[in-house]
Amino acid sequence: MSQQRKLFVTTALPYANGKFHIGHIMEYIQADIWVRFQRMQGHMVHFVGADDAHGAPIMIAAEKAGKTPQAFVAEIAAGRQQYLDGFHIRFDNWHSTESPENTGLAQGIYQRLKANGLIATRTIEQFYDPVKGMFLPDRYIKGECPSCHAKDQYGDACEVCSSVYSPTDLISPYSTLTGATPELRSSEHFFFKLSDDKVVDFLKAWTQDGKLQPEMAKKASEWFEAGMADWDISRDAPYFGIEIPDTPGKYFYVWLDAPIGYLASLKNHFDKGQARNHWHPPSRTDAGFDDFMADPTVEQVHFIGKDIVYFHTLFWPAMLKFSGRKTPNQINVHGFITVSGEKMSKSRGTGIDPLKYLSLGMNPEWLRYYIAAKLNGKVEDVDFNPDDFVTRVNADLIGKYVNIASRAVKFVPDGKLVKSDFARLGPAQRVDSIKQLYETREYSKALREIMAFADEVNLRFDGAAPWKLVKEGKGTEAAAVCSECLELFKVLTACLKPVLPELAVHAEAFLNCAPLDWSNAALPLGEGHQVHEYKHLMHRVDVKQLDALFEPPADMPPPQPSPGGGGSEKPGGEDLAPTISIDDFVKMDLRIAKIVNCETVEGSTKLLRLTLDVGEGRMRNVFAGIASAYRPEELVGKLTVMVANLAPRKMKFGISEGMVLAASHCDQKANPGIYILNPWPGAQPGMRVR
Ligand code: MSP
Ligand code: ZN
Repeated sequence: MSQQRKLFVTTALPYANGKFHIGHIMEYIQADIWVRFQRMQGHMVHFVGADDAHGAPIMIAAEKAGKTPQAFVAEIAAGRQQYLDGFHIRFDNWHSTESPENTGLAQGIYQRLKANGLIATRTIEQFYDPVKGMFLPDRYIKGECPSCHAKDQYGDACEVCSSVYSPTDLISPYSTLTGATPELRSSEHFFFKLSDDKVVDFLKAWTQDGKLQPEMAKKASEWFEAGMADWDISRDAPYFGIEIPDTPGKYFYVWLDAPIGYLASLKNHFDKGQARNHWHPPSRTDAGFDDFMADPTVEQVHFIGKDIVYFHTLFWPAMLKFSGRKTPNQINVHGFITVSGEKMSKSRGTGIDPLKYLSLGMNPEWLRYYIAAKLNGKVEDVDFNPDDFVTRVNADLIGKYVNIASRAVKFVPDGKLVKSDFARLGPAQRVDSIKQLYETREYSKALREIMAFADEVNLRFDGAAPWKLVKEGKGTEAAAVCSECLELFKVLTACLKPVLPELAVHAEAFLNCAPLDWSNAALPLGEGHQVHEYKHLMHRVDVKQLDALFEPPADMPPPQPSPGGGGSEKPGGEDLAPTISIDDFVKMDLRIAKIVNCETVEGSTKLLRLTLDVGEGRMRNVFAGIASAYRPEELVGKLTVMVANLAPRKMKFGISEGMVLAASHCDQKANPGIYILNPWPGAQPGMRVR
């Protein structure tokens, strides 16, 4: 074997505010295949991940869920392993950026940057939500577009006219958290001086010396042309993050400590004493985290998606370099996975739910194979197409690969291999070429070569027609051809092993051979080697499973009254209405409505007249019996929910074009009070409520 490489491999750290989606799984499969490939060469690999726990969105999500941010992210973390195990993704360690290791490393790196003169402070003006008592990240500010006057546009750009501006340019800005009008306040922020000449010079060289894919290197040079701005790395309390040393109330912006989480997870791994390589003994058993990272031969390799390239090719190497640390050796960027050509959207619930995939009994190695068959070393999107998935997996894995073993073994008496022309199809050269493709992440090409190889093995089998040979009394010849096929099945198994680790283990058991790796992949099992009885290695994909995978989640069953007296309470003072079907429910069109105006109705003590905007480009007039509960000025500007397809009703005071929803107890005398519904921040006029 050539020199043993020491590899430190990571995938991007997922935000700890949601479950894994198919995009995460795709990234982990890509990295896991590469790591398994390296381990099969006897290289030492430490493959780590972690949750990216910090930042305002997670803080706000935790608050909405009524939990501390720590408890919130811990719950998400607890759900990770089942996905990883389920898809045979074998990280050596999974940690969190909310950890003592990360705090120590982040503060240390910051202090080194500061000592290097690369931290500046500047007072900036920013919007502040006086109700919430916090500075507002741009994504929580909306208002009227200063150029086209479209309402409810985000703070950075207008979705209607595409003009770009800053939040302070918005007309009538409001906080999407509270609806309050934000105030401009000034505060001191900390900046990493990326515009410093020594940083720019370093990055210009670093991004162009082969660590990046060509298209990413090109991107980087475009960024340099546009000019490097200093990077704002601080946020004011309240913030869920790591405190800046000696600066009470100031925290690191999440993207400062997130990549440091790679190091934190590795350190945690070493400190737990588990940093031994599970497959091969470590070259230096005594090495701790600091020794390992100081070793110039260690290669640091990151797998990331195309949306976070700026952070990984500019900020991260600069942070490492100017804090006196090792910089990454490879940043491997992949594109996004789409499903049937459509971008995934978590909110619309499209895409593929990885846990549902597993719970349907679908084989995780089908997905590994399919994704690998579509991945290359470039930054290209990958499409999951259900029909293509079925065809690909069934034709390749069952039709080409598994088939060889099940067919050939029948003509090898007692499974005892005889002398065969093992080298005929050139297995050694093929293995070398396939290895090269794995190394460069050209998985699609690697699998194409493997399947072309399998085609040739099948041709050899069909051409020799062993079933005929046996009939003609040429059983020895049949055994020789089929021994050759089984030998080559072994080579194919080794080649597929990074992608199909579980199947490989079963195939090894059938072949009765030592675990396959690159040192034995192209060697023959040899004359006299005894293979075991063939047991089915893999099922075909059933189209029905794909249908089930894409079926929307089943409706919730109606609540059952609990037995033994527990169900006799009348909620809100009244019995539940009779059960309806989902079809009944969808007949009702509920929409988010903005109360643009509200006034009392002369001649009525009960009614208020509401002017509602339901995003239709016209206003609706609705009367609501809520005058006892609200003053008109309390409601103006608020959002609520209305029944938008109720037939208009002529009332004494005018036509009512719908109904707003409010909660009340059945018995208003005993339990007075009417409570109009108000959606969570973020809902927009016209959105359907379902
Ligand atoms: N927390 C940051 C990363 C910090 S790294 C120090 C983050 N998290 S994420 O959960 O949004 O994304 C994690 C990874 O998943 C990223 O590499 C991202 O590109 C990848 N993907 C997210 N959606 C994806 C697809 N649809 N397809 C493939 N990968 C995708 O960004
Ligand atoms: Zn506009």
